[in-house]
Amino acid sequence: MANVKIEDQILVIFGASGDLTLRKLIPAVFNLYKRGYLTENYRILGVSRTSYTDEEYQKIGVLDNPHLAKEDADELLDFSKHVQYESISTSELAGYEKLNDRLQLIFKETGTTNCIFYLSTPPSLYEVVSKNLAQVGLSDESKGWKRLIIEKPFGYDLATAKDLNAKLLECFEENQIYRIDHYLGKETVQNLLVTRFANSIFEPLWNRNYIHRVEITSGESVGVEKRGGYYDKSGALRDMIQNHLLQLVSLVAMEPPARMDADSIRNEKTKLFQSLRPLTDEDIRKNVIRGQYTGSSYKGEKFAGYREEEGVDPQSRTETFAAIKFFIDNWRWADVPFYVRTGKRLPTRVSEVVIHFKPSHHHLFSNRRLANNQNVLVFRIQPNEGVLLKFGLKVPGAGFNVETVNMDFLYDELTDSYVPEAYERLLLDCMQGDATLYARGDSVEAAWDFVDPILKAWKTEDIPVYGYPAGTWGPEAAINMIEGENMSWRNPCKNLTNDGVYCEL
Ligand code: BG6
Repeated sequence: MANVKIEDQILVIFGASGDLTLRKLIPAVFNLYKRGYLTENYRILGVSRTSYTDEEYQKIGVLDNPHLAKEDADELLDFSKHVQYESISTSELAGYEKLNDRLQLIFKETGTTNCIFYLSTPPSLYEVVSKNLAQVGLSDESKGWKRLIIEKPFGYDLATAKDLNAKLLECFEENQIYRIDHYLGKETVQNLLVTRFANSIFEPLWNRNYIHRVEITSGESVGVEKRGGYYDKSGALRDMIQNHLLQLVSLVAMEPPARMDADSIRNEKTKLFQSLRPLTDEDIRKNVIRGQYTGSSYKGEKFAGYREEEGVDPQSRTETFAAIKFFIDNWRWADVPFYVRTGKRLPTRVSEVVIHFKPSHHHLFSNRRLANNQNVLVFRIQPNEGVLLKFGLKVPGAGFNVETVNMDFLYDELTDSYVPEAYERLLLDCMQGDATLYARGDSVEAAWDFVDPILKAWKTEDIPVYGYPAGTWGPEAAINMIEGENMSWRNPCKNLTNDGVYCEL
């Protein structure tokens, strides 16, 4: 049970019958309810165009929600009583007057006017919804706080991101806007900060003197699934790198914040994004590789090529894979290369951050194996969440032969700890007014500033889109991009023992 209940409040979800709402948002709030965070007066108000009664929506959202199928029926019934529904036309002011009338009733019934407006809608609606909410007075905080949550993508490029921020700021203050990046809700991502700043053994080494390179991989074995229409206008750079992966970079590379509060942390992250060395056209040709998965067979299964997927232009040049080598221009990271890659239809679903330390300067033990295997610290973001340190150990017996061994921590071993799902953690933070794990407008723009030249070059310059078959780690050009003797990407694969337990080799 939670120690602290959240304040009375109302969660208004636009896009109430959409996939994200049913799959992630309602299950996350239900978990918070089960853990005792919600008060008697907590309400969810689902909003969309379709007309449902409260009872019909309680069934769709809770009682018959396939993502809550395994839950206790009595608990679900009790939770469903907190849920109501209003149908409105989201593009017309009249719809928001209707919504406001309904909310006034709920304000009376619950005695609170605190509201979170969650825009689980296509991004094209962000502007119109926020404008109309403000128009009917629902961004006004004179009686109770009002917060707005939006999902990525925050803009399509630098110009549209700036434009969106400016439009949102006409209706809400920056401290009312919560830009969600679900990677920041992952326990293992938050742990990057703790590992760095709560241990005295890592931070002194966390710089160009000791770190040789940093690698971040986020791969998926699935293709674009049913999202071809969206993905074809987005691509891996916009879908993953501009947000999730640059967020990871910022946590790995930022300076220690003065305090653990939203402003201090977000100031450091923004400063880090501003220190990313701008990519020239030549850098983009050489150090940014894009790829697209081709039709192929893998492990006896046939996979369609990206261009054959539903909703995708058969001539599409949209990238389903992207890899970038870049540098950070500050004292800590001068000349340390950062390599980031992401892709669909790779051999496995995996996200990890790999810190490669420099080899020891004095080679006492003339053992080639150790020389090639420097100390490596791996943060396994998912799956097999954990932290792994590789170091040299004497092989028992004669001489001084050295072998690399693993010190490995797995979250699964914390049997008595509850690890909340990303949306659960992030929603709870917003309910409590903590924006630390949400992206601030200036930092979103700074991240776009880095990515924008790549988008422009890909549009105007003759830069190849390499094909790669399913089950590979992307195009050859990306596989070979890590330069240096005996150096390559760490290609994580699922290693399971006979008992099905994960083990690192
Ligand atoms: C989403 C992207 O933001 O993140 C998807 O739009 C991607 O394309 C997903 O599949 C990956 O999230 P996770 O948590 O499964 O790594």
